[in-house]
Amino acid sequence: MSAIRYELIKTCAQTGARLGRVHTPHGTIDTPTFMPVGTQASVKGMSPEELKSLNAQIILSNTYHLFLRPGHELVREAGGLHKFMNWDRAILTDSGGFQVFSLAEMRKIREEGVEFRSHLNGDKLFLSPEVATEVQNALGSDIMMAFDECPPYPAEYEYVKQSTERTTRWAERCLKAHARPHDQGLFAIVQGGMHKDLRRQSALDLTSLDFPGYAMGGLSVGEPKHLMYEMLEETVPLLPSGKPRYLMGVGSPDALIEGSIRGIDMFDCVLPTRIARNGTAMTSQGRLVVKNAKYTSDFGPLDPECSCYACRNYSRAYIRHLIRADEMFGLRLTSIHNLHFLVHLMEQVREAIREDRLRDFRDEFFEKYGMAHN
Ligand code: GUN
Ligand code: ZN
Repeated sequence: MSAIRYELIKTCAQTGARLGRVHTPHGTIDTPTFMPVGTQASVKGMSPEELKSLNAQIILSNTYHLFLRPGHELVREAGGLHKFMNWDRAILTDSGGFQVFSLAEMRKIREEGVEFRSHLNGDKLFLSPEVATEVQNALGSDIMMAFDECPPYPAEYEYVKQSTERTTRWAERCLKAHARPHDQGLFAIVQGGMHKDLRRQSALDLTSLDFPGYAMGGLSVGEPKHLMYEMLEETVPLLPSGKPRYLMGVGSPDALIEGSIRGIDMFDCVLPTRIARNGTAMTSQGRLVVKNAKYTSDFGPLDPECSCYACRNYSRAYIRHLIRADEMFGLRLTSIHNLHFLVHLMEQVREAIREDRLRDFRDEFFEKYGMAHN
């Protein structure tokens, strides 16, 4: 029995998007879903109660950061990540295969694994499929990710080919090293850069191994959006329909909708919390830079269509004041709003799939949000 089971409820007659549920040892996730990011065992500024009150069913955390600090043995000693951070719903952990390439210094990639220096204190460290799997087993996340390499964009065909083949060999090693398949599901990550044949080969090789879910990695790395959508169209149809598909690192409202239309079930991104911290809100009318002078005496909510805690109780003028005065509460309110916006957007996406009208929903959403599309 796998720890993770996907239940397909229906597909949208207008788009083919999937309405489903992912069953985990820490509860059920309605999909398509957006996962808030809690890199260091905390969604910046948010308590678990606040995350629950905006209906987050799953959050993401990072192997790379927790391996560096406080160390997975400490989290194991605490009784696992759920207990350590007081979050009793589902957790997905990324493998470190992305952060080691974006954050660490002096990387050396070999077949065995990646040697690197910690971005915190310069310590020489090593991550490999076996280490990343052991760390995630210690953390006890519901969904673990295979250790992969995310090639930069753009990258030479020959480099991406070697890298993608190695990522597949690494995924096999993760599967072998996995000590808790009964209560943790291990997802594989499809790579292949922007090369369609490499993407297809990666999907075929990985699906010949029995993972309970599949992710699309190496996307949203600076390429134009149409390329990302082409890569999804090329590979998602090759993935088993009975298992969840996760598009890594994608969280702009348009990409959540377009990804769902192309058969994606799960998304994560630091975008809502990151832009909140520089005073930007996602609203039904597009992005709103609440720091701007024009909101000085605007006593309306961040988004008149939003029902989140921030919008029910606080004005643009107040939040602008807090952010300008460096008050933490301003950033917290903006984060609460942005996370609510994306979690609620996915609720609307699911409702539209249920009623076979996701294309209409997309067109209306883009009309208001102010986004060109085709
Ligand atoms: N997060 C965003 N993209 C990626 C990727 O390609 N691999 C991993 N492990 N995490 C990611
Ligand atoms: Zn709001």
